[in-house]
Amino acid sequence: MKNTVTSLQKQKNEGDKITMLTCYDYSMAKLMDEAEINMLLVGDSLAQVVLGYEDTLSVTMDDMIHHSRAVSRGADNAFVLVDLPFMSYQASIYDAVFNACRMMKEGRANGVKLEGGVNVCPQIKAIVEASIPVCAHIGLTPQSVNAFGGFKVQGKTEEAARQLIEDAKAVEAAGAFMIVLEGVPAKLAERVSKEINIPTIGIGAGASCDGQVLVYQDMLAIFSDFKPKFVKQFANVGEIMKQAFQDYKTEVKEGSFPAEEHTYAISDEIIDKLY
Ligand code: KIV
Ligand code: NA
Repeated sequence: MKNTVTSLQKQKNEGDKITMLTCYDYSMAKLMDEAEINMLLVGDSLAQVVLGYEDTLSVTMDDMIHHSRAVSRGADNAFVLVDLPFMSYQASIYDAVFNACRMMKEGRANGVKLEGGVNVCPQIKAIVEASIPVCAHIGLTPQSVNAFGGFKVQGKTEEAARQLIEDAKAVEAAGAFMIVLEGVPAKLAERVSKEINIPTIGIGAGASCDGQVLVYQDMLAIFSDFKPKFVKQFANVGEIMKQAFQDYKTEVKEGSFPAEEHTYAISDEIIDKLY
């Protein structure tokens, strides 16, 4: 069954945790879809884990659309949520609506995600009015890395905690159907999840959120430039891949690959005639 804004809200109401993983291509989308992950996030973390940038600021609308199309082709049942990248919604409400529409039309997304709270409510409201589901993202919002002075846990002071709760309530009132809480203390995330009616999805925000999200290269130990505290490596696929690459190299060099069963035959008669 296709996951929708309605089914996801029902999961929160019934206490059934929502699962989300990042996804950037067709093959991975198929695997996650078969594993019955509720939501695939085409995150702008694409910047670091796929494109090799230091932060998310360089990713473009065209980059995001390219990957969104690939993921949507592999997602039969999962809800495909796509990040609006930096500079696609900050400058104006027109930009926000125009780019959200592009993500739906060209990227074949089921909804868009953008970073911010009270400050982006006009954008959220306008996108929702264009009949596009919006997920807000508050707490540690990586597009603000320069303003934060680094990737730091947010909401630790009383003032910051109050601001986070205010942001959550504001984006809900603006029409967001979901909120990602990133890098906030677990007890604060629990409080936020109770205060609002829409589902919260946590990353580095403890177990009381209505769902969880991880970057798949992190949870499979494929990406190892750095490992945040909140990452659990569910399998060391990176090691398995590296071993397979080395085995391939060895077999090619010693001539044991390709073997008979990997090759196409032709009659000796034809080959003899060639000389
Ligand atoms: O881009 C991303 O991967 C994200 C998740 C970390 C929530 O926004
Ligand atoms: Na993101």
